[in-house]
Amino acid sequence: MLEDTSFAIHPGKETNGSAVVYQDIGNVMDFYKEGTAYLFTCSNGKVTIQFYTPSIVRITMNSKEWPNLNLSKSVIVTPQAVTIGETNTKELLVLKTAELVLKIRKSPFRVAIEDQNGRILVSEDKQGMAYRENGEVIAFKKMDKEDHFYGFGEKSGHLDKRGEKLEMWNTDVYAPHNPETNALYESIPYFMTLRDGKAHGIFFDNTFKTYFDMKSSEEYYSFSAEGGQLDYYVMAGPHPKHVLEQYTYLTGRMPLPPKWSLGYHQSRYSYETEAEVRELANNFIERDIPVDVIHLDIHYMNGYRVFTFDKERFPNPEKLIADLKEMGIRVVPIVDPGVKKDSEYPIYQEGVLEDNFCKYIEGDIYYGEVWPGNSAFPDFTEERVRKWWGEKHAFYTSIGIEGIWNDMNEPAVFNETKTMDLEVMHRNDGNPTTHRELHNVYGLLMGKATYEGMKENLHGKRPFLLTRAGYAGVQRYGSVWTGDNRSFWEHLQMSLPMVMNLGLSGVPFTGPDVGGFAHDTNAELLTRWTQVGAFTPFFRNHSAIGFRYQEPWQFGEKYESIMKKYIQMRYKWMPQLYSLFYQASKNGLPVMRPLLMEYPEDAKTYNLNDQFMLGDNVIMAPILNPSVTDRAVYLPKGEWIEYTTGVSYEGENVHLVHAELEDLPIFVRKGTALLQGEWNSNQDKQTKTLTMKVYASDSEENYSFTFYDDDGETFAYENGEYIKLDIDIQSLKGKININIVTIEGNYNPAYNEINVEVVGTERTVSVNGKNSHTIKL
Ligand code: GLC
Repeated sequence: MLEDTSFAIHPGKETNGSAVVYQDIGNVMDFYKEGTAYLFTCSNGKVTIQFYTPSIVRITMNSKEWPNLNLSKSVIVTPQAVTIGETNTKELLVLKTAELVLKIRKSPFRVAIEDQNGRILVSEDKQGMAYRENGEVIAFKKMDKEDHFYGFGEKSGHLDKRGEKLEMWNTDVYAPHNPETNALYESIPYFMTLRDGKAHGIFFDNTFKTYFDMKSSEEYYSFSAEGGQLDYYVMAGPHPKHVLEQYTYLTGRMPLPPKWSLGYHQSRYSYETEAEVRELANNFIERDIPVDVIHLDIHYMNGYRVFTFDKERFPNPEKLIADLKEMGIRVVPIVDPGVKKDSEYPIYQEGVLEDNFCKYIEGDIYYGEVWPGNSAFPDFTEERVRKWWGEKHAFYTSIGIEGIWNDMNEPAVFNETKTMDLEVMHRNDGNPTTHRELHNVYGLLMGKATYEGMKENLHGKRPFLLTRAGYAGVQRYGSVWTGDNRSFWEHLQMSLPMVMNLGLSGVPFTGPDVGGFAHDTNAELLTRWTQVGAFTPFFRNHSAIGFRYQEPWQFGEKYESIMKKYIQMRYKWMPQLYSLFYQASKNGLPVMRPLLMEYPEDAKTYNLNDQFMLGDNVIMAPILNPSVTDRAVYLPKGEWIEYTTGVSYEGENVHLVHAELEDLPIFVRKGTALLQGEWNSNQDKQTKTLTMKVYASDSEENYSFTFYDDDGETFAYENGEYIKLDIDIQSLKGKININIVTIEGNYNPAYNEINVEVVGTERTVSVNGKNSHTIKL
């Protein structure tokens, strides 16, 4: 108790901890090449170096034996045949690809990595790679005074993590989420360094508890793990977009999500009965507020048993789901990993009889307390168990469910440590490994089981998965929400850098609980948050039991009509959003971006937390404070037009803009274009009229972008059922030239042309050289 008072900083409390002693890897004694790997025997351990591509290199250290190069749960590729130039002298071994130069000093072993222009990306400090008796491994790298650090997955605090120490250990944090709350639900041990406008990435692929210390020194930073190998990849960049392409080349990209999952989601812990869910759905229909998904939280189940419905609360789920589908609404139920210990419950019976639960090495099942009481946990590290769990989802798909919400998959347990005992031994496909090592991938592997099982059971339809916990590569299976935030303005503010850093960590489909989960929201906060939510990749309003209901109509007509306007706007922007999601699925680029991704040369963007970009040409500058109707907006290079007012703004300037409660300042870069559809109704969400708004520029501009569309629901796009246009726009004095560079695919959308509308001054418009305002499809 005393630790919560000022006693925590009592002067007599300080003790002098003895300095930590690391064992350096030592000198290179010998090295040779085998296959794609260079193998080094050093005085105090072994190291391997492998090039994955000319721009990605992997370095692995093991203090005892040759590094095991096949442990990764997140890297999905193997090394390419890379041409490597080699120069060996007594002091130095130099390895050179088309994009990277590795200078390996031999005594002691130190690696400096440069690009082909001699720009240093990573160089080791006087300390290099090292380890401790207790199993800890660490790498020290030089820190440049211009270094800025981003990524690190799901972290509270600001965008730039220089000056922070970050911990990766998947944790169920109900409270608090504040700048010093470090370990949250996701662990993505990856970051991007931006230095003088150029970027590179480091992925530390270690599933133990890891730390990134960008705080203790101005001379060096370090990353370390409590155990395992020091195993990291360096990605050359040099543009932030290249870094992300390289990182997602390694860890995979998001599959194209079903279009309905990009709509508005309404949730509550919990809508407790079928009647309540029907009333909720009717409210959306009658008020003409768009909604695509209603989530069912834990009360839908019989005693919180997964793969069941409570017969009294939900007497006929199949009918409910069918009726809602008619209304244009899908149902997504929550599925937690904890399986109730109940010998009359078939899932538990099967799990025990088929030996599917996590166990201690001695053979006893591990039980932990979660919502259903004492529960067992499937061992998702085993392929056989993942398949079992995946197949069980036929329970949901057979009644029309196409999406699942995975929660508590850190895994969360209601005890002091908040999780499973660390000595629990996972089967791990024939390579038994403790929970201490695999804790951070439990959620990822549950996501894999769920996504793959749903896909199998949906026979050609795209599943949607929402997950709370994950590790590097989680984007391959699902979208991520940022867990149990609160209805505080500070949490609205924090959600922007959080979602942007998740995007920079390869996870493009994310968002916070709009309105705030715990605590009572209020009219103004919910309205401002809904404006932001309309443009975050994942858009779900969710609130907790015991707190105020926060559906868009809960605060009266004035607020409802503003929220309705923005939720409808989300649907008008759907063609633009869907094209950005397509891009994310192809090259890993985030949908929602910090400005530094597009303007890495502009230092003013390096820690810009309260603005974000949608794609490469739109800047959102929401109001994030109560009673505020004016704010400063920084606009980078270019000329900009405010979306609603049409007012022009000069770039490389700060502007004071006015925004009443009904206003969200949105800036579109002149010379670029936006695709817009329309809002019809909940029952009919299909775009029928497609407009391309071209923002005329006063100077000459060229802009290229890709428009993509398909049926939004199935995998038919894999067989050519899509439409893709690569479009070039030339903005000249008095004229806009539009060139359709390529048109691809066999999909026939409900619209058969794109109408071109010029925003700003009058211009003549040509399409492929002919005067016209329509692009025929
Ligand atoms: C956890 C989740 C929250 C959910 C609740 C009940 O706190 O983070 O979203 O509503 O559990 O299932």
